[in-house]
Amino acid sequence: MSKQDKPNERKFRPVLHALTANPGAEMMRYAQGKDDIITLGQGEGDAPTPDFICDATAKALKDGKTFYGPVLGSHELRQSLSDYYERIYNLGIPSSRVFVTSSGSTAMHLSLAALVDKGDEVVAITPIWKNLLGAVELTQATTRQVSLDCINNEWVLDLDKLFAAINERTKIILIVTPSNPTGWTASREELRAILDFARERGIWVLSDEVYGRLVYEGIRAPSFLDVAKEDDLLLVVNSFSKSWAMTGWRLGWIVGPHEAEAKIRDVALYNKLCPPTFTQYGAIAALEEGEEFLKSQLRLWHANRDLVVERFKKMGNVQMSYPKSTFYAFFKVEGEDDCIALTKRLIDEAGVLLSPGSAFGKEATGYIRLCFAVSKERLNEALDRIEAVICKHE
Ligand SMILES: Cc1ncc(COP(=O)(O)O)c(C=O)c1O
Repeated sequence: MSKQDKPNERKFRPVLHALTANPGAEMMRYAQGKDDIITLGQGEGDAPTPDFICDATAKALKDGKTFYGPVLGSHELRQSLSDYYERIYNLGIPSSRVFVTSSGSTAMHLSLAALVDKGDEVVAITPIWKNLLGAVELTQATTRQVSLDCINNEWVLDLDKLFAAINERTKIILIVTPSNPTGWTASREELRAILDFARERGIWVLSDEVYGRLVYEGIRAPSFLDVAKEDDLLLVVNSFSKSWAMTGWRLGWIVGPHEAEAKIRDVALYNKLCPPTFTQYGAIAALEEGEEFLKSQLRLWHANRDLVVERFKKMGNVQMSYPKSTFYAFFKVEGEDDCIALTKRLIDEAGVLLSPGSAFGKEATGYIRLCFAVSKERLNEALDRIEAVICKHE
């Protein structure tokens, strides 16, 4: 039978039939409708967006900021982001190099849409947030995964292994730093080495720095922007979601070279037309007045990070690295190699939803990710329940 004779096979694009499964999303569906589940499977805190951000947005709505705006974001927000880089990163990034998008996820899709085609290769450092692998799949480019190594409970990048994975079809090196799910954070030296290598070969670096402010030492993680020249083939993706409790707002941004501005504008125009208008006023408030809120969140998460580390250590059968950044614990339970089965058991028997490691790339199977950005009480309760399941004695 020819393809024309099988109408169902032609209904949607073949790439959608070929999409790889998303075990994290599957576990969320598995837990749906079950009673008394503590959800630590998704990457967000439990604090609502602070009032000063909501108030700025409500005012913008009342003031009639409800029309289409510029494709790459309002001039005010782009300038505010430029000022933010000056203040927090000590970097001079002109507003013309900042492109506002409807979320970090959209920033990634726009970047990929601007850079890759079928037949191109993206070399991705893993474990990595599954949605980014899915975003590459949609472009029909192929991904080559290069895994960090976990040595003595510490995640490390083997630069030689990364460079050996690059070939003439490689268009992009995709990196998330600080990393979801491992908390691994590239050093300035590593960033410089990767960018130098990419520059010599004319390859793009696409860096997701969404967790760049979620650090427990200093005020921010090293950024590719620290070591880049302004015309480097570098796109840095960022988001308002994590630092200012704005996951539901869907606002992010890209920093790129001047020559990317027109190209990202073309893609964004046909994609979203423009980011939402009134929420951009909330985003400006987040940038200009949000440091105290972020600090208070980090104090809570810092204490939670230490609590998770201490409690897992006491359990005796859990291995995990000490995350210096992000709000994730990425761990392994001795004798439990099937992370999907363990995640299901934790939903069924502990009433705790976590994310299976297989959601983060080929070599992350066996691990489990726990997001500790909740109240101390809720975290302790979840850990009690997890302990009762994984430390069950006959
Ligand atoms: C690495 C990474 N990038 C991007 C995002 C999503 O950002 P946004 O909410 O702005 O789409 C996430 C969310 O978990 C993430 O882990």
